[in-house]
Amino acid sequence: MADVDHHRRDWEALGELDPLYAVLSAPEAKHGAWDTGAFLATGERDAVRILDACSALGLPSSRGAAFELGCGVGRITRALAPHFERAVGVDISAAMISGARALEPPCPTCEWIVNLHPDLRAFPDGGFDLVLSFIVLQHIPDRAVISSYLREMARILAPGGALVVQVPASMPVRQRVQWRRRAYRALRTARVPEAVLYERMGLDPIRMNWLPRRDVEAALRLGGATVVSVQDGWLGDGSRTGREENLTYVATR
Ligand SMILES: C[S@@+](CC[C@H](N)C(=O)[O-])C[C@H]1O[C@@H](n2cnc3c(N)ncnc32)[C@H](O)[C@@H]1O
Repeated sequence: MADVDHHRRDWEALGELDPLYAVLSAPEAKHGAWDTGAFLATGERDAVRILDACSALGLPSSRGAAFELGCGVGRITRALAPHFERAVGVDISAAMISGARALEPPCPTCEWIVNLHPDLRAFPDGGFDLVLSFIVLQHIPDRAVISSYLREMARILAPGGALVVQVPASMPVRQRVQWRRRAYRALRTARVPEAVLYERMGLDPIRMNWLPRRDVEAALRLGGATVVSVQDGWLGDGSRTGREENLTYVATR
């Protein structure tokens, strides 16, 4: 429970301190240095990759509603919106959702929602033709919670819909130490303010987790979806960082 609370507060703080870098951590873009146009262009490219990967599999069968879990400031959601009647971006961080609402130009068919539940109870069974999540589940501390979100994503997927989700399948032992995050947590316990840790000491709370492929497939199956394709990296763009083995799954029901 403490982990869940820390997790929510950490993303709240990151959403206030440096939202674009927290979403996409290009080293040169730290401390507010992302150019907004360049940042949004990465979302356009990811949206095209997602839609192309789905189209190659004949998915989704209709383009009513899209859903992104962990949308951040809406980098991908807003790029997908023109391809659907509506697009729903959901995040645990109210600061990220405020950022999504504030980004220009506004997205008239986007809905931005804060979800603090460890599930997607606010969303109906089969309500979405595209359900997606990128660079999100890897940051969730508890693997049981990752599995539960995967089940929930499958539950809200419409028949003939496409579920696209990226999750690292493993991580080398040396990478699991995450000293930067541990130092951040210890100093937060000593009440050092987040801004001091992040801006002056270069520490951040970002956690990296993973879920083996068999567990991802089992969770999606429990939610009623079947995996139809598994690709390396972020949809085959070769972005294995050398640290974790990223996989992107496409499933349908
Ligand atoms: C690295 S960012 C990626 C944002 C977005 N997916 C993108 O690619 O532009 C991770 C996002 O996941 C959100 N997040 C983390 N845990 C979450 C949860 N349990 N439910 C919803 N959002 C979550 C964070 O607040 C953050 O905005």
